[in-house]
Amino acid sequence: MTERIRVGLADHPYDIVVGRDLLRRIHELVEFPIKARTAALVTQPAIAGLYADAVEGSLRNAGLEVVRVEVPDGEVAKDLQVLAGLYTTLARIPLTRQDLVVALGGGVVGDLAGFLAATWNRGVPVLQLPTTLLAQVDASIGGKTGVNLAEGKNLVGAFHQPLAVIADVATLATLPDRERIAGLGEVVKYGFIRDSRILDLLESDPAAAKRGDPDLLEELVRRSAAVKASVVAADERETGERAHLNLGHTHGHAVEALTGYTAVLHGEAVAIGMCTALRVGILEGITPPDLLGRCEAILTELGLPTTAPQLDRDDVWATMARDKKADAGVRFVLLEGLCRCTVTTPDRANVDRAIDEVEAG
Ligand code: GLY
Repeated sequence: MTERIRVGLADHPYDIVVGRDLLRRIHELVEFPIKARTAALVTQPAIAGLYADAVEGSLRNAGLEVVRVEVPDGEVAKDLQVLAGLYTTLARIPLTRQDLVVALGGGVVGDLAGFLAATWNRGVPVLQLPTTLLAQVDASIGGKTGVNLAEGKNLVGAFHQPLAVIADVATLATLPDRERIAGLGEVVKYGFIRDSRILDLLESDPAAAKRGDPDLLEELVRRSAAVKASVVAADERETGERAHLNLGHTHGHAVEALTGYTAVLHGEAVAIGMCTALRVGILEGITPPDLLGRCEAILTELGLPTTAPQLDRDDVWATMARDKKADAGVRFVLLEGLCRCTVTTPDRANVDRAIDEVEAG
C-alpha cells in the first residue's frame, strides 16, 4: 500500500510517499515544477548500480532530461571539494533556476545534494529519494542539509525543504543487516518520543524487525516518517519541539564522534544515548524507571547496543558541549513519561553517573 504523509509547513508543504517499488513510478507520484527541463541526479556508485537506471527512466517519463552525477561512496562525499565539483558540473549542464536536483541515496547524498540545491542559483528544488532506513525515517525529511568540515560534521548547512520525499522501502532489502538494524535505533526513538504503537510492533515480533520483514518495515517507516513530519511541521527551525528528535543524541553523538564515526554507527549510538538519557532522567527524578527496562529489552531483542565503550570523560563532556566549556552544563532530551519529552540541563553528577552505568553495562 502506498501512503502519502503531508509535511504541513505553511510556506512549503510537501508529501512523503511511502511504499514499495516506487522508484520507477516517480513520474506518477511527484508534481514537478512546470518549467523544469533538466534534473541533476546526484548519487553514489554503490547506489547508482542498483537504482539509477530505474530513476532515470522515470524522470524521463516525466519529460525531464537527466544528467547523472556520481560522487564518491561514503561520508567523504559530504565535503566542500566535492561540492565545488558539483557546482562546476551544474554550471556546465547548465542547470537553470527552473530545473531541479534529485538526491538518490542515503543521508550523505541527501545532505550533500540538498545543500547543493539550497545554494545553486540561490535555491532550486530538490527531490529526495532516500534508500537507507536512516534516511527514510529521518535525514530526508525536514530540510536539514549540509556538508562536513575537518572541524566537525554539518558545520556548513542550510534548511532547504524538499519538493517531495519518495521512500521506497523495497530498497531496504539490499542494505547490509547491520546498517538496517542500526536504522531501527531511530525508529525506537520515535516510539519513545511520540508513537508508542511503534514499540508495540517491535515488541510483538522483534525477529521480524531484525530480519527486515518488508511489511513490518513499511509500517515502521510510515509511522516514523509521520512522527517526523508532524514535529517538523510544528517547529521547522528547531526553536522548540523539534529538539525532541534529539532523544539519545547528546551522549550518542559523543560516542559516535569519539569512536571515529565507523566503530559505532549513528543508529547504534542513538540506542546507547537513549539508555543514557533514560538513566539521567531516572536519576533526576523525571523518568519512570520502567521505561529504561522497556527500552533496553527492545534494543537487545533488535541486536542494538545498550552499553557504551569506555571513553575519556573529559572528551565526552567536551564533545557533548560541542566546545571546551562543558562546565555550564549540557542539554538533554529526557522523558517525563512514555511519549512525553522535556528538554533540560541535568545535574552534571547525574550525567556522569548515568554514563558510568552505561559504560559499565
Ligand atoms: N535529525 C533531527 C532533525 O532533523 O531535526
